[in-house]
Amino acid sequence: MVKYFYILTYGCQMNVHESEKIAGILKDLNYEPCNVIEEADIIVFNTCCIRENAENHAYGNIGMLKKLKAGKRSLIIAVGGCLTQQMGKASGLHKKFPYVDIVFGTHNLGKLKDYIIKKRAQKKAVIEIEEDNGEICEGLEPYRTSYPNAWLNITYGCNNFCSYCIVPYVRGRERSRRSKDIIKEAENLVALGYKEITLLGQNVNSYGNGTDDISFPELLRRIANIDGKFRLRFMTSHPKDFSVEIAKAIADNTKICKSVHLPVQSGSNVVLKAMNRKYTVEDYLEKVKILKQYVPDCSLTTDIIVGFPGETEEDFLQTCELVKNVGYSSAFTFVYSKREGTVAAKMKNQIPAEVSKNRIMRLIEIVNSQTREQSAAYVGKVIEILCEGYDDKKQMYLGRDGYGRMAYFASDVSHIGEFLNVKVEGANGISLACKKVEI
Ligand code: 5AD
Ligand code: SF4
Repeated sequence: MVKYFYILTYGCQMNVHESEKIAGILKDLNYEPCNVIEEADIIVFNTCCIRENAENHAYGNIGMLKKLKAGKRSLIIAVGGCLTQQMGKASGLHKKFPYVDIVFGTHNLGKLKDYIIKKRAQKKAVIEIEEDNGEICEGLEPYRTSYPNAWLNITYGCNNFCSYCIVPYVRGRERSRRSKDIIKEAENLVALGYKEITLLGQNVNSYGNGTDDISFPELLRRIANIDGKFRLRFMTSHPKDFSVEIAKAIADNTKICKSVHLPVQSGSNVVLKAMNRKYTVEDYLEKVKILKQYVPDCSLTTDIIVGFPGETEEDFLQTCELVKNVGYSSAFTFVYSKREGTVAAKMKNQIPAEVSKNRIMRLIEIVNSQTREQSAAYVGKVIEILCEGYDDKKQMYLGRDGYGRMAYFASDVSHIGEFLNVKVEGANGISLACKKVEI
């Protein structure tokens, strides 16, 4: 009889890719994916704790499984990811949800297979959290579900300790994978027909630091040199490590998308200092200038936090000003979320929720109007997109151009995985309404 798995993923792209690795482990144990949670024989939660709402979302969903488990004793429920890796959270989680069978952390994902086998043989829950030992787990074959896009980890962990951020505590110190492993994986992906590779790391710019391996821009060049038509993207870039060499690598290689995600977090030097971001607004703008000097049409996206402890109205207005000056093609905006164990959590002047809410609404309006303006400028143009999927609701295919702009078009036949030209007929906020161009 076929056994099924169901994975719930919270948080960022990094977690989405990690879930592909979890799926690979489950496939290896002869489980098959299913779309209905009630049909699953094993349910895995891949959690995130970067903001409180992601954490609460996971807790809520784990809570909802109590009934399902009561009616199906053979069901295995496993919880892993950033949330469980937080000090004391694993045992707390098991106390709160005693029907959870396996709890694992971010540093022992590679042992999930053993944990499942162990759990099948015993009644007792398997709760295993390991500390960061500086190792990288190679050889986990992901079960990829994002064709024609493929995620590829180049670094794990983070050394930056931005004062608001829990990641360095739950993901450990920065480790770079060996370039030969990365390049081999990229070659395989291209050979398998993947058309877009996104290199992943908390700070890809510092790839190779502390090793005798190649630098990030060199890695970009070598991957871009692989034969075949594909796109290369990377995220996330820390502004303090963004270099002229990276800008040059983008400029020199048509396969590297002219689109950089460069989180600024705040437009106030006082806030940036309190955030421990290690750059000023002026430094940031200098990096943007360098990028534009080599890649004038490069699109920029960013992350911004509002309501960081001590942020004044003046600080916030400086953030708005910076957003207007840089002209981002889109931005992820977040309300600061207090994370226990971080430096910022101990700061006295936490901002009231209603003030943060008001600020984020104003910021979103600025970002959206910029996005709308940029989308409107596309109308009438013919652009090359990579068709990435089909939107059931809209009943249209969707894809993105090299700058990352989303485009929708109708077609009777599937173009998923193809590069094709479309004419932009209308702009709809962040996305474009397009028509296939017959050549
Ligand atoms: N509160 C709000 N946003 C946060 N981020 C990281 N930590 C927090 C937090 N405590 C945001 C940052 C980062 C993105 C991935 O998440 O903007 O760049
Ligand atoms: Fe968190 Fe800063 Fe590291 Fe990004 S660079 S993961 S925001 S500590």
